[in-house]
Amino acid sequence: MEIIIQPTPEAASIIAARHVARLVRDKPNAVLGLATGSTPLVMYRELVRMHKEQGLDFSQVTTFNLDEYVGLPTEHPASYHAFMWDNFFSHINVQRERVHIPDGLASHIPAFCRKYEEAIGAAGGIDLQVLGIGGDGHIGFNEPSSSLASRTRIKTLTAETRRDNAQAFGSPDKVPFHVITMGVGTIMDARQVIILAFGSKKAEAIAAAVEGPITAMVPASILQMHPVAQCIIDEAAATKLKRIEYYRWVYDRKPDWQKV
Ligand code: GLP
Repeated sequence: MEIIIQPTPEAASIIAARHVARLVRDKPNAVLGLATGSTPLVMYRELVRMHKEQGLDFSQVTTFNLDEYVGLPTEHPASYHAFMWDNFFSHINVQRERVHIPDGLASHIPAFCRKYEEAIGAAGGIDLQVLGIGGDGHIGFNEPSSSLASRTRIKTLTAETRRDNAQAFGSPDKVPFHVITMGVGTIMDARQVIILAFGSKKAEAIAAAVEGPITAMVPASILQMHPVAQCIIDEAAATKLKRIEYYRWVYDRKPDWQKV
C-alpha cells in the first residue's frame, strides 16, 4: 500500500481528486466506486471545480456507491442518495442512468444485492474505488467481523457507527439499524483503491489498517492485499503510524512519471 501523508485534509483531497481526474481523462467511460461521509467532501468539491473550470467530462462515467441505509427514501436528507446528488452529481455532467446507489427501499434485499453485483460486472468492474474509514476500521458499512470475501448484502450497524453517523439524522435513535453495503470482496475487486482519512479520530484505525495484522476485526486491513491501493491521509490521521518517516521518504522520492 502506498501511504501519502499531506499537511492538511485539503491537500490530501486534491491529490485524491487528481487521481480520479487522471483516470477519467485517460478512460472517459471509467467506472468509479464512490463513498459518502464528511471525508470525501473536499475531493468532490475539487472534482466539481475541475469539471466547471477545466471541462473534466463525466458524461460517459458510470458510478457505483458503496452503501445506503435500509428504509430511507431517496429524498430523505440523510440518505446517501441525497448526499451524492447534493454534493457531487448535481454539479457535474454525469448521466443519471449511469449512477448507481443501493436502493434502501428494495422490496427483496437479497435479490437487489445480487443485481447490484451483476450491474458492476456488466459495467466492466470498478476501475477506482474511493473509500473513507470508520473509527472501528470499517469500509463501506462492513463492520468488524464482516467476511473479508463478502459481497453486496444487508448489514447491521454497530452502536458506535450509529452514534458516529447520528448528526445527519438529528439523534442516534433515528439512525437505521440496517444498511445495504458492497462487500469487502466487492471492494477488493476494484482495479485501484484510494482510502482517505483525516483527523486524530481516524489515527488508530489507520494504524491498524496499514500496519496491523490482516483481520476481519479491522476490515480496512484487507487493503494490504490489494495490488494498487493508496492511503491518502493528513498529519493528524498519521500520528499512530510506526513507519511514518519511511512513508514520507518513499513519497519524496517518487519518480516524476508516478506523480499526479
Ligand atoms: C460511514 C460510511 C463510510 C465512511 C464512514 C466515515 O460509515 N458508510 O463509507 O467511510 O462513515 O465517515 P466520515 O468520513 O464522515 O468520517
